[in-house]
Amino acid sequence: MDPLDQPTVGLPGDVRMPLLGFGTWQATGEAGYAAVLAALDAGYRHIDTAAMYGNEAEVGRAIRDSGLRREDVFVTTKLPPERVGRERETIEASLRALGMDHVDLWLIHWPPSAPSDSIPMWRELLAARDENLARAVGVSNYGTAQIDELIQATEENPAVNQIRWGPSLYDRQRHAEHRNRGVVLEGYSPFKTTDLADPVLTRIAAAHDVSPAQVVLRWHIDHEIVVIPKSVTPERIRVNADVWHFSLTAGEMRDIDALAG
Ligand SMILES: NC(=O)c1ccc[n+]([C@@H]2O[C@H](COP(=O)([O-])OP(=O)(O)OC[C@H]3O[C@@H](n4cnc5c(N)ncnc54)[C@H](OP(=O)(O)O)[C@@H]3O)[C@@H](O)[C@H]2O)c1
Repeated sequence: MDPLDQPTVGLPGDVRMPLLGFGTWQATGEAGYAAVLAALDAGYRHIDTAAMYGNEAEVGRAIRDSGLRREDVFVTTKLPPERVGRERETIEASLRALGMDHVDLWLIHWPPSAPSDSIPMWRELLAARDENLARAVGVSNYGTAQIDELIQATEENPAVNQIRWGPSLYDRQRHAEHRNRGVVLEGYSPFKTTDLADPVLTRIAAAHDVSPAQVVLRWHIDHEIVVIPKSVTPERIRVNADVWHFSLTAGEMRDIDALAG
C-alpha cells in the first residue's frame, strides 16, 4: 500500500493522524536514529516521541535524512508535567531538538502530580496550538474524569488521549467514553501488555498467515484505535508495518476483545 493511503483518523483542525505509528521509547542514540530511518523506509508515516525519551534530535534527523516531505510525516511529542509554568520553553526546546517549526500533536505526558496544575497546563497547550507550534494538542495517561475537567474549564476537548492499551486491557466502555467526547484513543505498549503466545492470537494469526503481533496491531486498527508499536529490530520494524493485506472478521474481533476477561 502507498504509505500516504494508509488509514487515518481525523483530529480537530483538519488534521489526519495515521492509525499506525512508530513508538520510540528506549530507542535512543544511533540505534534510535537507525530505527526511525528504518521505520520510515518500511512505510510508517507517524512517529511518537517525547521530551522525556531524550531522542527528539535523532527522530528529527532521521525524518530529514529520509528525504520525505515534512508534511508527509505525522510527529507527536510530549510535555513532562513537571514543566508546569515552563510549557512554552519546553515546546520550543522540543522543536529545536527536532529541527521543526511545529509538531503535529503535543501531549501532556501524564497528569500533573498537583491536580490543580492540569487546567493551566492545558491552557498553555491550547495557546501553543493557536500559535501553530502544534497542529493538535491532547493528553496521555488521563482518566475520563480528568479529561472532563479540561473540557468543562476550556470547552476544548483533547484531540487524543494516549493510554496503555491492548487486547488484555480492552474496555469497550472506556473506548466509548473517548468517542463520545471527540477524543481519539491512542494505545501504547501493544506488545508489552499482550501474551503473544495466547492460543486465540496464534489461531487467528495462522488463519491469516501472519504473526500474533500483526494480529494485535490489526485489532487496534480495525477498532479505529491508534497504535504505536516500538522496535529497534529491522525485521520486526518491517513486519509490524505490514498489516494492510488482511483484516479481521467480526468473530475474530470479538474473540480478541474477550481476552480482557
Ligand atoms: N504515553 C506514555 O506514557 C507511554 C508509555 C509507554 C510507551 N509509550 C509509547 O508507546 C510506544 C510503544 O510502547 P512500548 O515501547 O512500551 O512497548 P511495545 O511497543 O508494546 O513493545 C516493545 C517491545 O516489543 C518488542 N517487539 C517489537 N515488535 C515485536 C514483534 N513483532 N514480536 C515480538 N516482540 C516485538 C520490542 O523489541 P525490540 O525493540 O528489541 O525489537 C520491544 O521489546 C513507546 O515506544 C512510546 O512511543 C508511551
